[in-house]
Amino acid sequence: MNDIRKIGVLTSGGDCSGLNVAISGVVKAATRKGWTVYGIHNGTEGLTERPLSYEILTTQNFSDTPWAKTAGSYLGSLNKGIKSDQMAAVAERFGEGVRELGLDAVVVLGGDGSMNVLQNYCSKVGIKMIGIPKTIDNDTPLTDCSIGFETACQVCMDAIDSVCTTARSHQRAMIVEVMGRDAGHLALRSAIAASADICLIPEINYTLDGIINKLNEIKKSGRQYAVIVVSEGVKTEKGETLSAAKNMVGEKVLGGIGDYLVGLLNEHCKDFQVRCTRLGHIQRSGYPVYADRMIASLFAAKAVDLLEQGQTNVMVGLQNGKLTAFDLKDVVQTGTTFVDINSAYVKTAKELGMYIGEI
Ligand code: F6P
Repeated sequence: MNDIRKIGVLTSGGDCSGLNVAISGVVKAATRKGWTVYGIHNGTEGLTERPLSYEILTTQNFSDTPWAKTAGSYLGSLNKGIKSDQMAAVAERFGEGVRELGLDAVVVLGGDGSMNVLQNYCSKVGIKMIGIPKTIDNDTPLTDCSIGFETACQVCMDAIDSVCTTARSHQRAMIVEVMGRDAGHLALRSAIAASADICLIPEINYTLDGIINKLNEIKKSGRQYAVIVVSEGVKTEKGETLSAAKNMVGEKVLGGIGDYLVGLLNEHCKDFQVRCTRLGHIQRSGYPVYADRMIASLFAAKAVDLLEQGQTNVMVGLQNGKLTAFDLKDVVQTGTTFVDINSAYVKTAKELGMYIGEI
């Protein structure tokens, strides 16, 4: 038997659709066991700042409200990064917060970065932690999928479809820039689903000539418009990373490659006028699609079940379609999951005639 009576749940990193399904799932499953669930506000900040910021969650929070089915985080989230020299002090305050509330365990909804940081805090403090993977980037290691990715793909696919109409009216090539940080999963999957002509991802080098040749081929075929999807992590041909902003600890937030390519293509490509739409944070919106609601429910119930069995320092996930738990150390050690250039997705894109770079 385990000694759990009170657990905390928090969302860390960039928000996405499906988080509230998972929070609600944790509350439902834990409440049935007689545990009290503390919803920690604004990621770790609810425990590291003073006064502590939290609320006790019950199934009522989600049953008579639209919250469970909306995007965003009911609890608020934190995506600001942390400097390594501040880690120890923040972990200490986190521990004091945990002790003040009397928490026996924490369920953390986060991506690869959050798993790393929270595993660090929790092990220092000696509190049980179960991770639940979420990110629109789909780059969390080991697990087949993370909450939020499928809905983000849907949002991107719909947006790519939408720009086709104006591209056609004005006989243009439209670039759609999507998020994903250094991984091209979101760009590649939505580009395939929306039948884009060109897709550039950070994992595969491209050339300007390659893009221009493809646009030329489209023009010659008689089609008067084209659609290009570019992942925000794609570098310039010279290998420069473009950044739209910096986060609160000074790390680069990616963005701008779409507009950069507009400049080059309008100068060098005679076939089409080019414009760019940067989807930005709208990619974290949208009612969670079926697949995200399903994995959020499976992961939430599994997280509570693992805690009841006395497990800790693991992240729930799917492996070859099976619900499982991964050691957090392995998750952290494995690091970001990039697009496998030998995968069926890359092969399919090529087979369908998409230009995806020089491979
Ligand atoms: O990691 C999720 C993500 O949405 C990335 O795709 C994107 O680069 C980043 O977060 C944006 O972060 P912020 O919310 O700080 O703008």
